Amino acid sequence: MINVACPNLGLEEKSAVNEVIDSGMIACGNITTDFEKRFAGYIGANHGIATTSGTTALEVALRALGLGQGDKILTTAYSFIATTNAILYVGATPIFADIEEDSFNISPEEIEKKLCEHPDIKALLIVHLFGRPCNMDRIMEIVSKHHLILIEDCAQAHGAKWKGKTVGTFGHAAAYSFYPTKNMTTGEGGIVLTNDDKVAETARMLINHGMRIRYHHEIIGYNYRMTNVSASIGLCQLNKLDSMNEARKTNARAYDKGLANANIILPKAAEGHVYHQYTIRVINNLRDSFVQYLGENNIGCGIFYPLTIPEQKCYEPYGFPREYKVADSIKHQVVSLPIHPKLKEEEVTTVIDAINNFKA
Ligand SMILES: Cc1ncc(COP(=O)(O)O)c(C=O)c1O
Repeated sequence: MINVACPNLGLEEKSAVNEVIDSGMIACGNITTDFEKRFAGYIGANHGIATTSGTTALEVALRALGLGQGDKILTTAYSFIATTNAILYVGATPIFADIEEDSFNISPEEIEKKLCEHPDIKALLIVHLFGRPCNMDRIMEIVSKHHLILIEDCAQAHGAKWKGKTVGTFGHAAAYSFYPTKNMTTGEGGIVLTNDDKVAETARMLINHGMRIRYHHEIIGYNYRMTNVSASIGLCQLNKLDSMNEARKTNARAYDKGLANANIILPKAAEGHVYHQYTIRVINNLRDSFVQYLGENNIGCGIFYPLTIPEQKCYEPYGFPREYKVADSIKHQVVSLPIHPKLKEEEVTTVIDAINNFKA
């Protein structure tokens, strides 16, 4: 079976974890601090606050920015549900905008429409979906014109760049996930990045039960701390992130070339894309038979995502508007192919040959 995702863990990670275990200091500690500094430095942010997951990183980022009850936060209708859940956790109200067909990312035109409908929107939470950077020229223009707080969900975009600038450095804060399918992993884990000293200080307190001084709880916080064990894996993964992203890009170029004549829509190549997913579109209602065919050929794939966020069952009580023209059509077409850095060249060829031989 060619798996759709596979973490790239080796001897370095094993020996780093062993070292932490031998030290006896397995909870949050010096290694976590080291990882926070190294990851923030790699991306180009002043502060990093490591957390237990990408979801908790998003929640902490929103809270630390002072967002909460009654605040409207504009976000994409098409992402993993954690993006919206974080908005709801802090008591804010999500407003959804449709995506662009070419990039699967939130559409700047749709953002502007929603800002006209809801002039009281306070913040914009964007997602660099599948590793492809959002159009940051247009988004920064809108952010400054409307004085919005900008949060970047970079859970799928470690090291992605817009015109040479690393994503995660555009907004007031950014959140990353280190889940095992991501471009780099810590097992489970996440991080908040920010250049704002105050936001960083609040985020640090939030993840540690509201403490600055031990057992003096100034605000109600959580235990969202990343362990030394996870951070030790993260340090090894960070050393390999560039080469892992390069391997993803090489696989993407091979698909671009090998699938150029297949009866599918390929993802549009973009500078700075780190290909968390290589997501094709299968049109003419053939998606189900295509997915079945890949399975019969022992090729794993993923459907990210079969539903838009606002139409998820758990959100029924909220009555969110449910029509998003582009996302509603794309959700029936998307298929993500194996793109991870451990794929062998012959496996990429197998996927290409199988797709080229797909008969509707
Ligand atoms: C876009 C996006 N946001 C947030 C998350 C949440 O990250 P985690 O699974 O680490 O909580 C994910 C992870 O799947 C994601 O893909």
